[in-house]
Amino acid sequence: MKSIGISPRPIIPLILPQLEHRYKISRLNHRLPLLHLDGAGRSLLLMASLNNHNHNHNHHFRHADSTASPPSSAVAKISHLKAVVLGDAPASEEDDVVLPSHDFSRQALVPSQQKYLEMYKASIENPAGFWSGIASSEFYWKQRWGDQVYSENLDVRRGNIKIEWFKGGITNVCYNCLDRNIDAGLADKIALYWESNEPGFDATLTYSQLLQRVCQLANYLKSVGVRKGDAVVVYLPMLMELPITMLACSRIGAVHSVVFAGFSSESLAQRIVDCKPKVVITCNAVKRGPKTVFLKDIVDAALIDSANKGISVDVCLTYENQLALKREKTKWKEGRDIWWEDVVPKYPTSSDVEWVDAEDPLFLLYTSGSTGKPKGVLHTTGGYMVYTATTFKYAFDYKDSDVYWCTADCGWITGHSYVTYGPMLNGATVLLYEGAPSYPDPGRCWDIVDKYKVTIFYTAPTLVRSLMRDGDEYVTRYSRKSLRVLGSVGEPINPSAWRWFFNVVGGSRCPISDTWWQTETGGFMITPLPGAWPQKPGSATFPFFGIQPVIVDEKGVELGGECSGYLCVKSSWPGAFRTLYGDHERYETTYFKPFPGYYFTGDGCSRDKDGYHWLTGRVDDVINVSVQKLLWLVLSTRLKGRAYMPL
Ligand code: WTA
Repeated sequence: MKSIGISPRPIIPLILPQLEHRYKISRLNHRLPLLHLDGAGRSLLLMASLNNHNHNHNHHFRHADSTASPPSSAVAKISHLKAVVLGDAPASEEDDVVLPSHDFSRQALVPSQQKYLEMYKASIENPAGFWSGIASSEFYWKQRWGDQVYSENLDVRRGNIKIEWFKGGITNVCYNCLDRNIDAGLADKIALYWESNEPGFDATLTYSQLLQRVCQLANYLKSVGVRKGDAVVVYLPMLMELPITMLACSRIGAVHSVVFAGFSSESLAQRIVDCKPKVVITCNAVKRGPKTVFLKDIVDAALIDSANKGISVDVCLTYENQLALKREKTKWKEGRDIWWEDVVPKYPTSSDVEWVDAEDPLFLLYTSGSTGKPKGVLHTTGGYMVYTATTFKYAFDYKDSDVYWCTADCGWITGHSYVTYGPMLNGATVLLYEGAPSYPDPGRCWDIVDKYKVTIFYTAPTLVRSLMRDGDEYVTRYSRKSLRVLGSVGEPINPSAWRWFFNVVGGSRCPISDTWWQTETGGFMITPLPGAWPQKPGSATFPFFGIQPVIVDEKGVELGGECSGYLCVKSSWPGAFRTLYGDHERYETTYFKPFPGYYFTGDGCSRDKDGYHWLTGRVDDVINVSVQKLLWLVLSTRLKGRAYMPL
């Protein structure tokens, strides 16, 4: 059996140099005066946060010496640090903590650490009660799940790995995104804003218009024989037709597999061969900045390649993206290729819903594996729906009036969970941007933010760093005053990029949700809740409800307190992937055998003395041949090439 390390264990030497090098984690802690203040110190923190709107308070208050003591074993006491209060002053290198302001917390869904801890405790002590409460009050189920809210085995020593949530429950994700919200009065609310690569071209769809478009495509797909459980491969750029396609598939119970429209024809063919779709959906071309990318040519090559490997696709539905390329100039294969605009609009604007089991597949998303063959991460319906909607709501402190922009492409998991499903399940207004973030100049993002009055802006550190290099003036020439919450995903955000994002982009007013998660996890796992926790630049902070992250050493022993090691997760959560398509054995070997009893994330992580989590990247980059026991991990976990691309 596993023992829980009581005293901090030595940091794994192979990880430490990387940590030190990248984020100076240990320096961060050691240069601080490690005072553990008593109640008086804690109340100072409280006063600082309560008084932040009082402009008479002096520098000492604004940069309050602080401590806090969350009453939970999940976290330790927050040590003596220099703090700045949200909205009060820029975060400087001296400020290791940014406290939520009183105004922000007061309006937040989770307004305090205490509230978070209460909810977190409930979610861990009674996951069935916690999640079934949310599932039944916030979603539509044609039929409620059976006696068990969930059943799981995460321990390879006890047999096959199995995760099920809400099994026997009958629902439909598209219905919950569209029909349910329309019934609740959102018919005329903007569902999608679309901004073209070319400034000045845009479009909108309300929730009822979106439903009509989705139904037309759903009806078309049914007419060409797509049925429940059939795969549909989607190779589309960020046009409205991309979320429309995802929703149409989910409406009819088909399993979409979106392939990032930047991947090569070989990668596309490999995915087609693996999941054998009835239909491929694409568009003729897309403009990315000044460059035209001929997507249909890539699909043509992939379809020849896959046919040579024995998998022929009968229908290639092609959207004519007129701003990029006219149909006359598009290469065409009669019989197989069909223009979207010629057929889809002819179908009825309403369609029946295919009611599916909570454990029926929703989508497949391939991620690169190091053995050449990509891994088909499979997500199912009910748990994924509940989890993405709930994480979206809390991590961004979502309000009905928000205009939400996530710069991720729907070809990645972020675009599945936090462009399409999570936001739409909440009835949010979502902005899609087709183009390149620095086109025609590096101010484009802020131009878009001002144009649509974006309130939540979610992006990746690579983009933050690149815009940072381009200079502040591209940012400051725009107002950005609509922004309320910022988000980061894909890799650790280094503290200096964090501060630039916070100070320059967000004008020191907007908390940053640094969300750590993976294709496999479906949704956020470790993330700040912006009204609840003091933030430390570069830390993803604390686990989301229901998530039990553990840090283990190379022997799989759980480490306690301040430590560094391999990040695993104990117990399942509703959004977890259920298998790798067609290869359950690889699922078990890659994720559950390295540390029996846990889901192994493949990431390194360090926990500081205050319980904050600091992600340090993929351990396959770090694992050294001298660690014999873990050698095989190099073969079984993914390549560094999987680094996240925002657009
Ligand atoms: C990394 C993207 C640090 C991590 C959602 C993870 C992060 C991999 C963060 C998953 C973050 C993602 N801080 N690292 N906030 N978010 N990562 O599957 O290494 O494309 O395992 O999912 O990205 O990448 P994936």
